[in-house]
Order: sequence, then C-alpha cells, then structure tokens
Amino acid sequence: MKRSLPLPLLFLFLLACLAFRSALTRSFHYQSNPPRDRNIHLDATLLSLSSHDPADSSLRTDISDLLQASLESFDTIGGKFRTISLWRRIGSDDTVRPRSLARIRLPVRAQTHYPPDRQLILPLFRHSLVTWARSHHAELPYSIMSELIQRIKRPIEIFNGRRDSGEPYGTCAVVGNSGILLGSNHGEFINSHQFVIRLNNARVVGYERDVGSKTSLSFVNSNILHLCTRRVGCHCHPYGENVPIAMYMCQPRHFLDYVVCNSSHKAPLLITDPRFDNLCAQITKYYSLKRFADLTGLSPTRWNETHDATTFHYSSGFQAVMLALGICKRVSVFGFGKIKGAKHHYYTNQKAELNLHDYEAEYMIYRDLIKQPEVIPFLSGFQVPPLVFYY
Ligand SMILES: *[C@@H]1O[C@H](CO)[C@@H](O)[C@H](O)[C@H]1NC(C)=O
Ligand SMILES: *[C@@H]1O[C@H](CO)[C@@H](O)[C@H](O)[C@H]1NC(C)=O
Repeated sequence: MKRSLPLPLLFLFLLACLAFRSALTRSFHYQSNPPRDRNIHLDATLLSLSSHDPADSSLRTDISDLLQASLESFDTIGGKFRTISLWRRIGSDDTVRPRSLARIRLPVRAQTHYPPDRQLILPLFRHSLVTWARSHHAELPYSIMSELIQRIKRPIEIFNGRRDSGEPYGTCAVVGNSGILLGSNHGEFINSHQFVIRLNNARVVGYERDVGSKTSLSFVNSNILHLCTRRVGCHCHPYGENVPIAMYMCQPRHFLDYVVCNSSHKAPLLITDPRFDNLCAQITKYYSLKRFADLTGLSPTRWNETHDATTFHYSSGFQAVMLALGICKRVSVFGFGKIKGAKHHYYTNQKAELNLHDYEAEYMIYRDLIKQPEVIPFLSGFQVPPLVFYY
C-alpha cells in the first residue's frame, strides 16, 4: 500500500481552506516596540472587530443552498467511479440552471465499504449540517475550552477501550510540520508523551528519529478528507486506521464527504465544535488586528486594507495547540516556526512559506499563552496549562 499522498495533494494541503477562508497577509516592517500604554478604547475596538465575521453572510447562503439541494449519483470514467453530487436549481424563471454545490467521486469497488444507504446520505448530510450551523451561530460560551475533554478526549478513550476519567492527559506533544525538525533528534522524546497529535497527514516513515512514530490523534482540515474520498474506504491517513481523526470543517459542503466517510472509518472521525473554531478565529483576529495597530499606528478598522477579511483564517497548527491545551496537563510543541535555511516542511521540497495565515500574530499568542495567558481575550476562566516550544 502506498503510504504517501501524490505530490499535488501536498500543495492542496497547503492551500487548504484557501478558497473558503484563509488569510492573506502582507508583511509589515517592525519599526518600534508596541506601545505599552494601550488604552481601553483600542481594546474595545479590537474586541468588537475580532468578534465580527465578515464571511458570515456568505456562509449562511451556502448553508441554506446546501440544505435545499437534491442528491444525484451516477457512474463515471468507464464505471470505475461513482459521483455523488448535491445540486440545486438557481436563478429566476427564464435563466434557471442546475448548479452543483458539492460533489465527490468514490471508487466503485469501494461502495461496499460505505454503509450509509444511498437513501440515508441526504438526511444524514442535512442533519449534520444543521447541527453544525446551529452551533456555529451560537454565542461563544467561555466554557468551550473545558468542554474539549468531553468532546474530543472522551470518544477517543472509549474507542481505545478505556474508561474516561474526565481528567486531562498527563503530557501531550503537538508535532508541526516545519523543516526545523530535521536533524532535531526529538523522535524519542516526542514518543515519550502520553498523547501525540500530528497535523495534516504529515509523513512519519523515514523521519522517525526527528519526528517520532507515535500518533494518538491526527488533526486535519476537511479538504484533506475530501481528497481521501477518492480512495477505497476514504483511506489516506498515513498513521493507520486505528488513529482517531479530529477535523476542522473548512466548507459546509464537506459534510457530504464526512457523511460518506464517517461510517467507513474504524476510529472516530470527530468534527471540531464550531464554537471552538470561532474561539480560535476570534483570538487570532484579535492578535492580527493588534499587531497591525501596533506596527502601523493606524486604526485597527483599517486592518482590512491589507488583509482579506472574508478569507482570513488561523492555521491548523494553532487550533491543534489550542486543542492540546484543552485536553492535556502539559503541552510540548515541536516543529513550529521557521529558521533561515530550514525547509518549509520536513517531508516536502516546498520552498517558500505560503502567505495564507498571520503566523506572526499566532507567535504572539503563543508567547502570551506561555508567559501571560491572562491577557488573552475570550479565554477568561480557562486555566492555561504549561506550554513549552522545542526548537
Ligand atoms: C459517525 O460515526 C459514529 C460512529 O460510527 C456515529 O456514532 C455517528 O452517529 C456518525 N455520524 C453521522 C453523522 O453519521
Ligand atoms: C473595513 O472595515 C471597516 C470597519 O469594520 C468597514 O467600515 C469598512 O467598510 C471595511 N472596508 C472594506 C474595504 O471592506
């Protein structure tokens, strides 16, 4: 069995979430240290701007279209694949045209591996999407970090045949994909953690000395699952079929992939709670706005002149660190950040950093999580556990 994904997929991973919500940032030159006396007025503006999601109305339209869609399935490519499509007639009387809203292609011989009856796909899709959307539009509860044990750790423990104590894991490692891991010799140390989280299906085989071999949870975004539907049983996770997956939903149409793949996955396929997604989005936006205001001296309301506000998004790595903070007593982070001369990804030859996220803002959050978590907005009441970055 092939262990790695074809090269084009790697680029798709990097473009993950780009089409829907990603970050386009321009770099600013550091000129001075951020002013110390940030006033209350600025903070109120930052809080209000970071709570507002400019992509919200288009998301609502997408969801409403998807909920009214019909399902169609047909064989393609000489009967080798089956296409499942959600479509809807869009337009006014004389220009009504069917438009495909979601589409997946499964290998035909895999069909026996997909227990949901064709009749069940649409109702399951609608139910999952409605539940997700309701939660996405709900007020942010400050308890969401504390709920991660129940939502993520518990199903994993039950799958592994253990009773969940309700207590966090003792030690967790979050392994990022930066080239700084090469030659680090961190492998054994990473494996010594009770719970190891890896990101976006990064390859492990051949890199064990530096990145370890243990994987307790694979954290991916839904673009990756979408690519996996082309494989028999949706299998393209490199850590084996017994490793649970936590997935961030980039696009509501990926619920089609989820419904089709969920039942063929042995291990839990968990979708991150949209309120947790919102928490991560608001914190990163707050820091990106703050950094903009500090560096330029301009009003944070002008942030959107240099950032694409509708597609701005946190990185998968950031959400994985936040997830670990919610389910672990101590968190070690490896393979985050860049140094001159280091490869972008330890397992690919991709040269440059794609400018999709505000990584600098995320580094500021990490510094505050380590040194002064009490200043981080939207986290009030949550006790941030000790966090250490290894380089
Ligand atoms: C996904 O699979 C799990 C475990 O088989 C099941 O409990 C859950 O209801 C499924 N969800 C959907 C939407 O099919
Ligand atoms: C940028 O954001 C401000 C404040 O939220 C808003 O008034 C303005 O219309 C936005 N500009 C653009 C180009 O979207």
